[in-house]
Amino acid sequence: MSLTGKRILIGVTGGIAAYKSAELVRRLKERQAEVKVVMTDSAKAFITPLTLQAVSGEPVSDALLDPAAEAGMGHIELAKWADLILIAPASANTLAKLTAGLADDLLTTLCLATPAPLALAPAMNQQMYRHAATQHNLQVLADRQVHIWGPAQGVQACGDVGPGRMLEPLELVALVERHFTETTVQAEDQATTHLNAQPLAGLKVMLTAGPTREALDPVRFLSNHSSGKMGFALAEAAVALGAEVTLVAGPVALSTPLGVTRIDVESAQQMQAAVMGAIAQQQIFIACAAVADYAPKVVAEHKIKKTAADSLIIELTKNPDIVAEVAALADTPFTVGFAAETQDIEIYARDKLKRKKLDMIAANNVALAGQGFNSDDNALSVFWSNGHVDLPLTNKSQLALHLLTLIAERYYDTH
Ligand code: PMT
Repeated sequence: MSLTGKRILIGVTGGIAAYKSAELVRRLKERQAEVKVVMTDSAKAFITPLTLQAVSGEPVSDALLDPAAEAGMGHIELAKWADLILIAPASANTLAKLTAGLADDLLTTLCLATPAPLALAPAMNQQMYRHAATQHNLQVLADRQVHIWGPAQGVQACGDVGPGRMLEPLELVALVERHFTETTVQAEDQATTHLNAQPLAGLKVMLTAGPTREALDPVRFLSNHSSGKMGFALAEAAVALGAEVTLVAGPVALSTPLGVTRIDVESAQQMQAAVMGAIAQQQIFIACAAVADYAPKVVAEHKIKKTAADSLIIELTKNPDIVAEVAALADTPFTVGFAAETQDIEIYARDKLKRKKLDMIAANNVALAGQGFNSDDNALSVFWSNGHVDLPLTNKSQLALHLLTLIAERYYDTH
């Protein structure tokens, strides 16, 4: 894709990965983007401003209070100039400053002053990345619609192995391209929403969403981090696309989208009963819920008491596999499963597609910060027997519209 006319401001912070920034700038320039670079002081320990000036063909900005810069392209002008700010590498320190809204250098000030979207390519030692403070900061930033791109896993400059490597320049360029394609698609979607036919008109769609709770005793349960946001976004989007929607929801703190019939459940058994009770009338079933695979074999009648023993063994028993049961019906609806994976996404997703006899599966990488469980954004890789589409990272409402449009296409291709 050409990035002609796109104005991209690259922020470079202190970290060994800063040497890759020159390559990133070069690759963006090759695609006709206009690129300007802002460096922090610590970045200069890893790469010189001269190098970045040479590859960008523009003077590199680094000082907030530079009288010469203020007279020309000051921080407000730079903030207004950018179509996208990408900080690569983004150090743990910069993530913390952005989370707190600090503005003690040119780069962080720009980030506060810009209306442009902000993307971060974190790069740091794996232990720093895993630290609760960094994870919290990434979550806060993702909740503010900041794009978090990466990090990758692997061997680090310090010899550690784990997550924290900056994505490679070409991977970042691909994400920049996706970002601008998506922005264009969103603008077109908004412009044409009222003209679009409703591809799900006349169809009944049932969805599951949220977690299940598997009781251990009257006050305790086993569960997971699903917030229900993805499933509720799908329910809302299905109504917008013309469907009659039934949403079977586990325990979540979300209000019911307009026009949706909601059935609240707690456990996997209850979810199964609610689904099977109304599945015969549905043309499409989408299993987005994070259903517990196992439940305690026995639910204690009274609160389980602490004893002198150092351990407590609880026997679990397998829950019904709801989506597989639906897909095995004689008169099965078009059945779409989700796959929450942390590695080898395609292999595991295709295995579930086949094993559970689904028509389609939407896989998400739940190991990445800023997407999957309990975040506002997500990205999906959608697979069916002879096809595959990647739906890039965006907010769950937008993603739901894209997934449902795909489901409608596949439904009509097969019916
Ligand atoms: O709710 P959010 O916070 O917005 O997060 C969204 C999400 C990460 C929960 C969602 O995008 C997602 O991935 N949902 C599926 C989670 C899951 O349980 O994945 P799985 O790979 O374990 O299950 C595969 C499929 O089987 C799923 O469609 C699941 O609904 C279904 N299943 C699983 C077990 C079971 N007993 N019955 C089922 O129907």
